[in-house]
Parts: sequence; C-alpha cells; structure tokens
Amino acid sequence: ALPEFSPAVVIGTGYGAAVTALRLGEAGVPTVMLEMGQLWDTAGADGKVFCPMLSPDERSMWFKDRTEAPLASFLWLDLANHDIRRHAGVLDRVHFGDMSVYLGRGVGGGSLVNGAMAVTPRRDYFEEILPEVDADEMYGRYFPRANAGLGRNEVDRAWFEKCRSYNYARVSRKAAAKAGFKTAFVPSVYDFEYLKAEEEGTVPRSALASEVIYGNNHGKRSLDRTYLAAALGTGHVRIHTLHEVREILRQPDGAYTLVVRESDADGTVLATKHIGAKHLFLGAGSLGTTELLLRARDTGRLPELSEEVGEGWGTNGNVMLGRANHLWDTTGSLQSGMPTLGIDNWDDPKYPVFAEIAPVPAGLETWVSLYLAITKNPERGRFRYDPASDSAKLSWTADQGQPSIDAAKALFDKINRANTTIYRHDLFGDTRPFENRFTYHPLGGAVLGKATDLHGRVKGAPNLYVTDGSLIPGSTGVNPFVTITALAERNVERVLAEDVLR
Ligand code: FDA
Repeated sequence: ALPEFSPAVVIGTGYGAAVTALRLGEAGVPTVMLEMGQLWDTAGADGKVFCPMLSPDERSMWFKDRTEAPLASFLWLDLANHDIRRHAGVLDRVHFGDMSVYLGRGVGGGSLVNGAMAVTPRRDYFEEILPEVDADEMYGRYFPRANAGLGRNEVDRAWFEKCRSYNYARVSRKAAAKAGFKTAFVPSVYDFEYLKAEEEGTVPRSALASEVIYGNNHGKRSLDRTYLAAALGTGHVRIHTLHEVREILRQPDGAYTLVVRESDADGTVLATKHIGAKHLFLGAGSLGTTELLLRARDTGRLPELSEEVGEGWGTNGNVMLGRANHLWDTTGSLQSGMPTLGIDNWDDPKYPVFAEIAPVPAGLETWVSLYLAITKNPERGRFRYDPASDSAKLSWTADQGQPSIDAAKALFDKINRANTTIYRHDLFGDTRPFENRFTYHPLGGAVLGKATDLHGRVKGAPNLYVTDGSLIPGSTGVNPFVTITALAERNVERVLAEDVLR
C-alpha cells in the first residue's frame, strides 16, 4: 500500500527519475516512485511480455482503439496499423494540433520503447544550449557516469561490415559517401553481443524480430534492468505502478501532498489516494512534468511558480523521411531494429543535421532507406494550462516545423542527386516526403536556469525538483537520453548534499 508519507517521492520512472531514485536509495533515503504505466515483467498468453510489432495487440499502445505507428503507410496502404483494445499499453502518442509526441509508459518510461541509441552530445553544442552548466564537469564526470549506468556498448566494427542485420545501414552509408557526407557509429544500450547471437540463430530474436516501439522482449538494457534494478537493490526504493499523480499541493509546514489516481490496466479508477513528501522530484517527462507544474501554478496550488513554466519546448528538430533505393540496392529483409549509424553533417554552417539511419522493420524488402533527422530548429513551443480540460495544451504550428524540413532537404537533396534517387512519397499517410508532425524527443517546458535554478530546484517551491527532459531547452543535437541521464546525475549529487542530507 502507498504510505501516508515518504521523505522523498519521485514522480515517473524514466531516465531522470531512475537516476534520482538510485542516488536517493544509495544515500539511505526512503523513496517512493509513482508511475502511471505498468510494470512490464509478465508474459501474456503468447508467452511474451511485449506484443509483436507486426501484429500488435492491446499491449502496444496507451488507451487507443487503433495503433498509431510512425510510418503510417506503405505504397499509401495502411498496413502498419491495427485495431486494438483500449488498455495500458507501453507506447503513447499524445496529440496537440499540428504536433504529436511519442512517449513510453511503464516502469522505465521511454527506455521501454526507444531505439536505444546512447549518444553523448557534442561538447560545443552542449555549451551552446546550456552555457551556465560546467562542461568540464559534465564531460569529465557525469557523461561517463551516465554511460556506465546505462550500460552503453558499441557494435563490433568487423561484424558490422559483414552482418545481414545492418546491410540497410551500409547501403545508406554508401549513398551518403557518394555525396561526400560522413557517417558516425552510434553507441547503444541494446546488447550487441545478443544481437550477434540473434543473427546466428542461437537466441530468441528481438531487435531482429522487428521489436522496438512496442517494447523489446530481449537484448535491451532498459532502465528496469539498469538504474531501476539498482535503485530497488538499495532496499530503500519502492515503485507503485498504475499510480498517476494528478495534483501537487503544499501544506502549511512546507511538505508536499500528492493527489494520486490508482487505476487497473483497463483504465478503471480504483482509488484516489494521498501521499506526503518532504522532497519531491518530478521525473514525469517533458509533457508530464510541465503539465503538473502548470496545473499547480494556474489552479493556485503553487502560485509562486515562475512564468517560465511551460516555455522553451522543442522537438529536437525531429523530421523523418525515406529515400527510394535502386532495385539493385537492396537493404535486406532482416534489419536490426536498433540503429547504429548516423550521417553526421552537424558542421554545416547553415543546416546542421545528424540523421540516424533507421530500419524499416517490415520483415521484407521495401527498397526504402529511412532516416530520423535531428536538426537545429530554433523554433520553440509553449504549454498553457487549459482549465476546461484540466490539461496542458501545446502551441506549435506546422510552419514552426519548416526549419527542420529545410535542413533535412538540404542534406538529402544532395544525397539524392549524387545517387540519382528520389524521396518516397507513400510512407506518411499522404504524399508528403518529410514527416515532421511528430517527435520522439520532446524537450523543455521547465528549462534549467529559467523555471528552475541551475540544479533543477523549481523556482518558487522549496524542496521541489525537476529531473527529466523538461530541463533541456528544446534541443540537444543528438538523441537525448544520455544528456537527460547525465544532467540528472549532476543535479541529484548537488541536491542530495545541499538539501536532502543536510
Ligand atoms: P520519460 O518520458 O522517459 O519518463 C516519464 C515517465 O513518467 C513515464 O514512464 C510516464 O508514464 C510517467 N508519468 C508521466 N506523467 C505521470 C504522472 N502524472 N504520474 C505518474 N507517472 C507519470 N532517445 C535516445 O536518446 N535514443 C533513442 O534511440 C531514442 N529513441 C526513441 C524512440 C521512441 C519511439 C521514443 C518515444 C523516444 C525515443 N527517444 C530516444 C527519446 C527518449 O526515450 C526520451 O528522451 C526519454 O525517455 C525522456 O526521459 P525522461 O526522463 O524525460 O522521461
């Protein structure tokens, strides 16, 4: 049962939350984690914890009637999506007008559904986005600590060159090289030794069975196997699942009270509960944390919160596109769901792009080379509290996504020209070649040094902290979870020493 009070409460179980709980637990601080999603450790009737990517069921998505996969169509046919039963599945897609956001739901947050790419940002860009954070400290101490805690590893280069699973990446590398662009290997938290064994056929397939966005049954070092397992191992941390925090209130003595809604996995509300906390850590992700803070400020519970709450949100410049390969340039039917190569053109003065070479895990030859490009889009969105729906609404318009398209187009027009290839127009539901109506990388909403101090302490609310992707001002130039993890490591060290253990 949920205790009435805990010295520390952490909301969410994603990257920032997991780091924070581990370090609190190691310091002996009794800590409760509240997660609105499920714990993914029990096999269904098919003997698997997560459902198959190509025949998804109710385990796939968070309370939807139909799946909403990023590749909406193939040859304009809606082949990827299936009707499902509404249930507490692992992947959510939250819609706000011209933008929608993919999120992981469950113990481990985004680590359950993401592509496992573990990329440390370029130091010069990190210094540009967060100039007040000591980069020597980050690159000397916290990025290495984060990468160790996450279990980052790199692909065996000799194996990469001859394996079947990354033929698709080699085909894209060749096309990039023909246009004069270089590629870079991307580390991962998917176990590459396991991947090798998958290709050899000695273990059950996961990344090679198209598993990724609806969860991996094997091979992935998601947070439930790394930081969260270690946090539970301290004996001081407990996780309560299917517990959604709805409201944050402050008591006259300065302690926080949370209003928590407990549901079952089919969405039936079981109870409304309360828990008190001395120190409260928000790790509910960019959308979750920002909404909790906005609701608290604008309903008068925490009126002292800064005007900066809700500001500085960005998509990390995400834009997806496909190129049509020549018939003789096959990418292969066996494609690792875990990317490990990116086209690195971040040095371009006008259009910096880091484009991850993504798989098309269809299980058959598609002649498509797919990319998720990360661009330097300066546009920022803003969340506002909407009293009618009691939720946060994002303002982001289609034209704010245009700089991402312009940058991706500058790069891929050159690649197409050099290879006499064209864009695919059949992948995103209509004829558009660039898909920028969703992001995998929501960042910002409670930006470090603006809505919080330089260590995530929320301005106007003592003993309240932000630990997750909300702290990053809309962009980090690469896939973001290593940055989120390292910042959380840095912040919790300071907060433990100065606030919690004081
Ligand atoms: P995160 O979103 O991980 O966790 C928040 C948790 O809080 C969730 O479990 C949520 O259910 C819970 N929560 C929210 N509100 C709550 C409430 N009110 N009460 C209780 N619980 C609540 N990044 C990367 O670096 N490499 C990659 O390869 C990829 N690939 C990728 C693919 C896909 C499909 C997605 C969706 C995302 C990625 N990402 C990625 C992005 C990465 O997963 C993302 O940046 C991090 O998970 C964000 O970490 P946070 O700690 O901010 O929150």
